[in-house]
Amino acid sequence: MDATLPILYLVASVTFIIGLKMLGSPKTARPGNLIAAVGMGIAIAGTIFLYKGHTGEHLHNLGWIFGALVIGSVIGWLMAMRVKMTAMPQMVSFFNGMGGACAALISLLEYKAVGGEALGIGNGLATVAGLLIGSVSFSGSMIAFGKLEEKIGDIRFSGQQIVNNAILLAAIVLAGLIATGNITDFSAIILLAGVALVFGVLFVFPIGGADMPVVISLLNSFTGVAAACGGFIYHNMVMLIGGILVGSAGSILTIVMCRSMNRSLTNVLFSNFGGTTAVAATGEKSQGSVREVTCSDAAVMMSYAKQVVIVPGYGLAVAQAQHACHQLEMELEAKGVTVKYAVHPVAGRMPGHMNVLLAEADVDYDKLVEMDEINPEFPQTDVALVVGANDVVNPAAKTDPSSPIYGMPILDVENARQVIVMKRSMRAGYAGIENELFFRPNTAMLFGDAKSSMTNLVTEVKAL
Ligand code: TAP
Repeated sequence: MDATLPILYLVASVTFIIGLKMLGSPKTARPGNLIAAVGMGIAIAGTIFLYKGHTGEHLHNLGWIFGALVIGSVIGWLMAMRVKMTAMPQMVSFFNGMGGACAALISLLEYKAVGGEALGIGNGLATVAGLLIGSVSFSGSMIAFGKLEEKIGDIRFSGQQIVNNAILLAAIVLAGLIATGNITDFSAIILLAGVALVFGVLFVFPIGGADMPVVISLLNSFTGVAAACGGFIYHNMVMLIGGILVGSAGSILTIVMCRSMNRSLTNVLFSNFGGTTAVAATGEKSQGSVREVTCSDAAVMMSYAKQVVIVPGYGLAVAQAQHACHQLEMELEAKGVTVKYAVHPVAGRMPGHMNVLLAEADVDYDKLVEMDEINPEFPQTDVALVVGANDVVNPAAKTDPSSPIYGMPILDVENARQVIVMKRSMRAGYAGIENELFFRPNTAMLFGDAKSSMTNLVTEVKAL
């Protein structure tokens, strides 16, 4: 009996690793998620029924535990079923914040149960780290949630970074004094939680709303570390492993997102880039005139093409044009045209945004091609159809050292024989800059909402 629980924990840990690996590809992501969820179920059930405390007794309060499990599961299920694809970042942020709060509460309760004097330096450090990081993650995630819901704006004031650094320093000093047993009063750890909560709020306040996905990923890694601290406190291997996996996956994702935007984490956290003030409409047609194309001309170009590459961007998500896009793909394929999708790593507003949207519309995974693979194919592409994408196809990233996106890897759509850009106006994208692609001789603009333009295109292609 005694070996059963560690074996269950081992099984659960293996499912987390397999699940995480499978989340790396759209094809295996769903089963991967399911496998890891089953593993989590095994770990939870094992803990509830088999875990014995130092007194040798099983867990008490089963009524409370199952009551909370049922309430949490129902709320989580309802939220997950109802959430719109475009609101996914806020839901991730909300759930992440709950994880941070749990980790912080574990530290708080353990400190109260064991007592400050008896903790020892190892457990003392894990306890204060779990409390500090978990609290920052909780309050930071709640502010990120509010910003993404557009309930909270970007709040900035002069000297903000100095105030933030001073609060963080105060929290670290207090945490150090508690961990080393120099302060053992319970009110001190409550104070630490309060200071950490305030820091989490102030830390996220100034960051531009559109940079929130990077911050959420960072906070996600914080929650992982805080949960790992909980695993250390309880000597619970599955919690430790799960926390480390979340912590490292979140850190890697944060780095990948920053690299794909050619920005440092410091730039994301402290530059206010991507805030509402940064995204300004640029002057119309300042680089000359643009050529417009009608839906029927665009339909002819694509119907007689050998290869069409569709480039989805944030505008496709806003317009919810993914289903019409899939219909266009099927109509073109029926005419013998090869259709592929070029997916930039930061197209849209969250990692995997485009993959998830296109998968939702039943686009075949094999048609989604990553940037490095599709770029060499553009010279052999007859039509590149850019749907609500802007920054990720801006050649200034390669040619203009003064551009804020200079160095960001982009999709080389300008190398296609013909580029058609679907957007509503000449307004800028997330980076707030003009796109010289729109003024190139092989580019034609198809103005209008992506969904209605796409629906019209489908009708025109069908009619040919
Ligand atoms: P953007 O550069 O933001 O461009 C989107 C374009 O879509 C806009 O120019 C807009 O033009 C158009 N649009 C909006 N609503 C539309 C509608 N209903 N119908 C048709 N077009 C519409 O998007 P992108 O190219 O996908 O680039 C993503 C940007 O977000 C990058 O700068 C990236 O660094 C940043 N970012 C991404 C992430 C992740 S992880 N994906 C995280 C943070 C930041 P109109 O207004 O003229 O229609």
